[in-house]
Amino acid sequence: GKVEPLRIMISGAPASGKGTQCELITQKYDLVHVAAGDLLRAEVAAGSENGRRAKEYMEKGQLVPDEIVVMMVKDRLSQPDSQEKGWLLDGYPRSSSQAIALKKFGFEPDVFILLEVQEETLVERVVGRRLDPVTGKIYHLNYFPPETEEIASRLTQRFDDTEEKVKLRLSTHHQNVEAVLSLYEDLIVKINGNVPKEDVFVQIDGVLTKLLEQRQAARESL
Ligand code: AP5
Repeated sequence: GKVEPLRIMISGAPASGKGTQCELITQKYDLVHVAAGDLLRAEVAAGSENGRRAKEYMEKGQLVPDEIVVMMVKDRLSQPDSQEKGWLLDGYPRSSSQAIALKKFGFEPDVFILLEVQEETLVERVVGRRLDPVTGKIYHLNYFPPETEEIASRLTQRFDDTEEKVKLRLSTHHQNVEAVLSLYEDLIVKINGNVPKEDVFVQIDGVLTKLLEQRQAARESL
């Protein structure tokens, strides 16, 4: 039989590089990337009632209420592709109630990756961030400028990517992070996120490679 697919949680402050690392992780490991923020922005874009309500909280940098977010994430993790390939859960859970709900539904990670980045850096990362609506790729005006003029001309900015709003998001993060970390204590791997993105990925890749090797070895010794 096949080795069990990986199940990964990735967490960190706003703009710590979660989405960027998820691009690199899914390229190599072919996991299903489930980002709570992306699911919510899709609802907002669709103009649904949930999207309209969610946007009110997102604009204030606050957590969207559980009744909107919990089932949204659970449904995505329950899809056949997530079950077959494994998943990479980004920006979720962000509160103990979300973590407890996930456990109740039977979703437990193999590893909990925590990106650590100095606070001064975060604001600069947020205000320079741009997104390509065509490919979904994440850019930064200074660190990862777009490759072509054509891409540059279509880049968009998130509605909550201002200095003022990232400070609100950061304070929400500080209020909630300890409660979540305490529930995954044994699975946490801290990663230095202050270095270039390729060097951040080298650290994560090392952790995941080791995990898969251990699994392989355990299976062969059966
Ligand atoms: P969400 O979309 O999750 O936003 P966030 O947590 O604030 O994180 P970001 O997406 O801003 O940053 P990131 O860590 O992915 O960084 P990135 O890789 O893009 O959530 C948005 C809102 O949705 C929340 O405020 C909340 O309202 C709601 N929400 C989400 N989840 C929820 C939940 N579970 N419950 C309730 N509500 C929820 O990188 C940032 C920039 O830095 C980019 O420009 C990138 O190019 C650059 N960069 C990345 N890595 C590096 C590097 N190593 N060196 C230099 N630059 C880098």
